[in-house]
Amino acid sequence: MDVTVIGCGYVGLVTGTCLASIGHTVRGVEKDVKKLRTLSDGHCPIFEPGLQELMQEHYAAGQLQFTENVRSAVRDAEVVFLAVGTPPKPDGTVDMSYLEAAGKEVCDALAENGDDYMVTIVIKSTVPAGTNRKLYKFLKEQTKAHVQVVSNPEFLREGSAVQDFLSPDRIVIGGESPEAFRIMRRLYDPIVKREEAFMTMNWESAELTKYAANAMLAARISFMNEMTVLCEHYGADIEEIRKGIGSDFRIGPAFLRAGCGYGGSCFPKDVAALEHISKAANYESLFVNAIQTVNKNQKRRFADKIIEKLGRPIQGATIAVWGLAFKADTDDIRESAAIDVIRHLIDKGAHVRAHDFKAMENMKAIFKEEVEWCHDPVSAAAGADAVALITDWPQYTTLPFRKIAATMNTPLIFDGRNCLHRDIMRETGFQYYPMGRPCIENSLRLKHKV
Ligand code: UDX
Repeated sequence: MDVTVIGCGYVGLVTGTCLASIGHTVRGVEKDVKKLRTLSDGHCPIFEPGLQELMQEHYAAGQLQFTENVRSAVRDAEVVFLAVGTPPKPDGTVDMSYLEAAGKEVCDALAENGDDYMVTIVIKSTVPAGTNRKLYKFLKEQTKAHVQVVSNPEFLREGSAVQDFLSPDRIVIGGESPEAFRIMRRLYDPIVKREEAFMTMNWESAELTKYAANAMLAARISFMNEMTVLCEHYGADIEEIRKGIGSDFRIGPAFLRAGCGYGGSCFPKDVAALEHISKAANYESLFVNAIQTVNKNQKRRFADKIIEKLGRPIQGATIAVWGLAFKADTDDIRESAAIDVIRHLIDKGAHVRAHDFKAMENMKAIFKEEVEWCHDPVSAAAGADAVALITDWPQYTTLPFRKIAATMNTPLIFDGRNCLHRDIMRETGFQYYPMGRPCIENSLRLKHKV
C-alpha cells in the first residue's frame, strides 16, 4: 500500500521503516532540515537496535523515501500517519500544536485532490481522548475528499522498538468506520499473527488505552518501589516478593522490578497527561497522582540514602555515577533518575563523576562543567567515596570489582537497579546498598578520615 508518515522522529521513523519492511511503499515527511539531510544520506538519526540496517536496506531499495513536502507526499497516499510529537507543556497538559499544524497541512494538501479520493488518516501520536473525533470533524468541514480518521496508538519500547513493531502483542485501532478498519487490517496483515490481536474500538477507547497501558505499567513500578520502603524497614527482600507475586498468573512477572524510579519519554509524560485528562473531566485522580509522587520520592530517597550511608559529610565527597540513560540500551536521558540524583548530590556539595555507555553526550548538555565526565566506569570510581549505579547496563555487572574496591576511597556501592550480584559484592569487600533488599555492611576500609 502507499503510505505517508508525517514526522520522522522516534515513532514515525520506526513506523515508516517497519511498514516498508513488510512490503509497503512509504514516504516519510520531515521538516527539520538537518534531520532530513541525515535521513536522505541514508543515516538513522536515532540509536535504536536494528533500525539503521532496516532503514538503509529499504531506503536503498526505494521503498522508503524522505521529503519535507507534505503536499507531494500526501497526494497518492492511501494511508497517512501523523506521528509528530505531543510533548508536555510546563503545566503537564499536552502540547497539540505540532499535531494541529500537521493536520492542517494534510487537510490543505487533500483539498487539491478530487472528491473521489479516499484516504485514511492515522493518529499515531499519543493524544488526549477526543482528539481523533475533533480531527475528523475538522477534516470533514475542510475537505471534500473521502477522509477517514483512525487512532492507532503505539506501544514501542526504546531498545526493542523494531521487534515490538514487527511482533506486536496487539494492534489497537480506534475509529467509527468499518471501511477504515478493513484498510488498517490490510496494512498490518503481515504482522497480525492472531486475529484477536487486531483490536478495533471507538476513538476515545483507543486514545485512553494508550494512557491506561503506560499508567498501569508505571503503577506497577511505583507500587514495587513503595514496597522497597517496607522491605528496608522490616528486613524483607523485594526480589523475593517480586517472584512471590509475579508467579501469580493474575499478576504476572513483567514490570515489577524495583529501582530508583522510572523515566523515559513516555511514562512520566503520559502519566502526567492522564492526570490532566482526569482534571478536564472534573475528576481528581488520586491514584494517578500517587504513581508520580512515589516515583519522584523514590529518586530522592535513593539520593538521600547515599547521603545518609556515606559515612562522611556529602559536602566535598566524590560520588561516581554509573549510568545516565533512563534505561539500558539507549542514549535517551529524558526524565532519567540520573538527572534528579545528580542534581541533588551536587546541590548538597558533592563532586560528581559520571559515566554511561551511550548517554554521556546528552547528559553533558544538562550538567556541562558541573560534572566530571569519565570514559570508563573503573576510572570514574577510582578515589571516589561511593558509586551510585543508576542505569542497568549489563556491562556494569561484570566489572573488575576487586580492583575497583582497592582504588576507591571507600568501597561503597548504591545499586539503584538491583542489578549487581550480591555474592560478588560481598566477596570483593564492598559495602552494598541495593533498593529494598538487605544490604551488605562489611566494615568499611576507610582511607578517608570521617
Ligand atoms: C514505555 C512502554 O513500555 C512502551 O510500551 C511505550 O510505548 C513507551 O513507554 P520505554 O519508555 O521505552 O517504553 O521503556 P520501558 O522499558 O517501558 O521502561 C520505562 C522505565 O521504567 C525505565 O526507566 C525503566 O528502567 C523503568 N522500569 C521498567 C522499572 O523501573 N522497572 C521495571 O520493571 C520496568
